[in-house]
Formats: sequence, C-alpha cells, structure tokens
Amino acid sequence: MEKKIAVINGDGIGPEVTAQSVKVLNAVAHEFNHQFHFAYGLMGADAIDKTGSPLPDATLEMCKQSDAILFGAIGDPKYDNDPTATIRPEQGLLKLRKELQLFANIRPIATYHSLHHLSPLRSKQLEGVDCVIFRELTGGIYFGKRTVNEDKTYATDECAYSRAEIERVAIPAFQYAQKRKKKLTLIDKANVLETSRLWRKVVRELAVQFPDVSVDYMYVDNASMQIILNPAQFDVILTENMFGDIISDEASVLTGSMGLMPSASVGNGSALFEPIHGSYPQAAGKDIANPLGSVLSAAMMLDHFGMTEEAEAVREAVNWTLTHSFVSKDIDPINNYGTSAIGDLIADYIRRNAKTAAAHNAVLNASTII
Ligand code: IPM
Ligand code: MN
Repeated sequence: MEKKIAVINGDGIGPEVTAQSVKVLNAVAHEFNHQFHFAYGLMGADAIDKTGSPLPDATLEMCKQSDAILFGAIGDPKYDNDPTATIRPEQGLLKLRKELQLFANIRPIATYHSLHHLSPLRSKQLEGVDCVIFRELTGGIYFGKRTVNEDKTYATDECAYSRAEIERVAIPAFQYAQKRKKKLTLIDKANVLETSRLWRKVVRELAVQFPDVSVDYMYVDNASMQIILNPAQFDVILTENMFGDIISDEASVLTGSMGLMPSASVGNGSALFEPIHGSYPQAAGKDIANPLGSVLSAAMMLDHFGMTEEAEAVREAVNWTLTHSFVSKDIDPINNYGTSAIGDLIADYIRRNAKTAAAHNAVLNASTII
C-alpha cells in the first residue's frame, strides 16, 4: 500500500519521540512492502516562533492532503503562566482537530505486568485492566462561546452539544464495545448539567440498536474514584470533551508511565495519531524521553490503514523492549536506554522478526510441498 503521512513534530520532546516512530514506520514499510511518504509541517510554539501562527495554513493543507497525521507534542512553559498571551501553542492543535473534524479521540489503557511496580495502584488492582476511552474531541466547553468583561472581573465558557455530535462519537464507541467485552460506560454529570442529560438520552436511545452491549452510566466524580478503586470494571468509556481530557490523564498513570500511552483522533477524513503525554520541556533534546507512546500511536495508525499484521508487529516489538528492560528513564531510573536507542531496537526487532517469519513460512511451504 502507498500512504501519505503528515508529520508534525511540535514542541519539547515531540521531535525526538516522533523520529522514533518514523524509524519504526520505515522498518514496517520495508519489511511489509509498503510505501510511506512523509511530509513535515509546523504546529505549536515551534510554529509561533517561526511563523507567528500556532497552525500555519501550509500545515493545515498538508494534513488535509494526507492519509494520516503523526503528531508529537504541544506546549511551551513560556505561555503557561501568562494569562495575557492571546496566541498559544495549544490553539494550533485545537484548530487542527476542529478543521479536520476529528470528533473521536480514542485512548486505550492497558497495563503491563513488568511495569506493575511503577503504578500507584497495587498489582492486585491492575489485573484485568484493559479499557478504551472514547473522548468527544470537537465540541463541548472546549469550543463553546467564551466571554470576558471589559475590566476582566467576569468570564464565561459555554458548554454546548447537539444530538448529532453525540451520536457520531457514541456509535463507533458502541461498535468498539461489540468487538471487545461488550460493555460501555457513559461518564457524565447528568445530575447537574443539561448537556449531560442530553448525552444520557441519546446514548440510551442508541443502546437499543446494540442489544449485545451492556450500558451503564456513571457520574464523573464517582468515575474518577472508580478508575482508581476498581479500574478492571471498565471496557469502553464514552465521555464528552473535558471529562475525557481529565479522566484519560488519570487513567494513564495506571500503567506506571504516561510516556507509554498512545491515542488516535479520528473523524471522517484523515486521522491524527499522537502520544497522550505533553511536551515535557525539561527533557527536550536530552534523548531521555520515552518514545513508546508515539510508537504505539504509530501502531494505531497502521491499524487505521487496515494493516493489522503490521500493527501487531510493532506492538510485539514494543512488548519485547519492555520485557527485556530496554526502557527509558521514566521506567527504570538506573539502567536505561536513550530515546533513539529504543527506536533503533524496535525497528531492528521488526526487521529481524519479519525475516524470521518469512524464513519460517518458506520452510512451512516447502514442507507442505514435500
Ligand atoms: C490533550 C491535551 C490537549 C487537550 C491540550 C494540549 C489542548 O491536554 O490532548 O489531552 O486538552 O485536549
Ligand atoms: Mn489532556
């Protein structure tokens, strides 16, 4: 297959983790006979510094022309504590999500045995944890009307949702649950918010079309407690934009390192793949960041292309690095490997394994002929 991949390195550790994914994707292309064409664009603080805009038109155009987007990270501390800044790096990502209508953000939460000791939870509570968060990504309070009065003593942020916006993210969430443990939990605040009551109504009505999926409803305050107390109860979590932002950061620490967590943002056109971690500016350029969140996002991209075997090859390589402790500093502060070395190890593993698998198949074919 031939695919056009837009690469946006972004800020902080974005360039170095993304470079590892490109290495890995090149190894996949080589071993599985695909052609991936990479084009690079600017976004975030990097783009503001170079062009004045957090999402230059050229980047947006490049993304629209691509089959998928690989994105690193966004954010720079110089904007964080400046409430007067009118141009911010994050605006680039929000605009890109909106322009491409990436309405569903999918964040899988898996745990790894070899990393249980890093989790703030006890090993016993981590058994069986395997859930996926479907976060609505282009609506709600993130995109509502904002106001602030003249003397800046009063401000508002509107939270709005339409039935159509809820349906278009809820339907794929139901379909996903059908392929998994057949359970969907809607997280909302329906005891207080009108938008949450609409979410509940729409989801309840849709549930009729998915009789094999059991649905439960949980208030977000209780859900944030349940994620810590008994995370194994969840299969597919569906929620609105801001609750999803908060809950997914909370859930990401279960794994032991946020640096491992991938995500996919999908809509009707080209989709975007990015690790859920931030730009981690203190680590930028030091070759210490964990590239696995990005590499696993690249695996989600391969799944999105329908390249299931290729995605599995990447995940297997990642698991191999984890079980053999070829890991970054966040996972092992004493014996660790650099960002780039881990990328090389994963790419090499894919190359080696594809060769072994091909040799193995050749033997099998030969023995079938005999
Ligand atoms: C995320 C990030 C973004 C968000 C920021 C960078 C705007 O935290 O992808 O979760 O809040 O959606
Ligand atoms: Mn977030």
